[in-house]
Amino acid sequence: MSISDEFAFAAARVPIAAAIASFRLAGRGDEKAADQAAVDAMRTALNAMPIKGRIVIGEGERDEAPMLYIGEEVGTGSGDAIDIALDPLEGTTLTAKAMANALAVIAFSLRGGMLHAPDTYMDKLAIGPGYPADVVDLDAPADVNARALAKAKGVKVEDIGVCVLDRPRHADIISALRRAGCRVYLITDGDVAGVINCTKPETGIDMYVGQGGAPEGVLAAAALKCVGGQFQGRLVFRNDDEKARAERTGVTDFKRRYALNELVSKDAIFLATGVTNGSLLSGVRISGGVAETHTLVLNSFTRTVCELRVKQPV
Ligand code: FBP
Repeated sequence: MSISDEFAFAAARVPIAAAIASFRLAGRGDEKAADQAAVDAMRTALNAMPIKGRIVIGEGERDEAPMLYIGEEVGTGSGDAIDIALDPLEGTTLTAKAMANALAVIAFSLRGGMLHAPDTYMDKLAIGPGYPADVVDLDAPADVNARALAKAKGVKVEDIGVCVLDRPRHADIISALRRAGCRVYLITDGDVAGVINCTKPETGIDMYVGQGGAPEGVLAAAALKCVGGQFQGRLVFRNDDEKARAERTGVTDFKRRYALNELVSKDAIFLATGVTNGSLLSGVRISGGVAETHTLVLNSFTRTVCELRVKQPV
């Protein structure tokens, strides 16, 4: 069984609804309100879909997230059994500050196709398509990976662009990459787009490295599953509570290194709609009662890569 492009295009309503709802609250300085608007809109749109949907990556565990919690059943209950990973607003701070690169993101796979990532951090390493398997290694220093990538690409290491979340925890990685001569693209938030940008030569980004949210890691891996590229990840635990969360999602090996096909083991559909303007997608525009949106639709079943620009009355 596969998931068709028709399904993928119909599913675009879901991130589009979330993007429009959160964009209405962009720049208000209220992260929670923007996130809640995205959650409400995404949940309503998902529940209208003819699927037996189950959230495997969502807003958190049931006791802390009343909506789109892990394990929540969504959809009309007819149709195929589908697992869903989502981040209704990837970039809550970006949206609250009306900064670039906020997205509404969702991925679908057949039941059992995506890792039930706990809400912890993940060490991530990603590159675009066209390289030999394992040319880079999650356990190698970032500058060693950049040199290996440069060699495989046939360019100087000075020509390699690496995207990193601008966080104190990445200071050593950033220094090592800069000492090697790489161009380091720092982002304040939004590493799903950071990873996907490795697949888009026009962004200048060849590699993504660093620690970010584990749910975002699985979502980014779903995108790479559709367009090609490599992704390696390892869950990072800061305390026993995080380990307990992981155990509840079925994780038994806390040190396991996941390859892309272990994070997303079955074919998948990935959709992202721009909330604010960004390197990957244009943001929502609302004028004269009409909302214009820009959505990336990727389908690993059919290898479809498509961008939808939709105008709809709001
Ligand atoms: P939110 O939308 O939940 O704010 O997440 C944005 C984000 O930047 C992710 O893209 C990234 O994986 C994570 O936060 C990094 O976490 P932290 O801000 O704790 O470093």
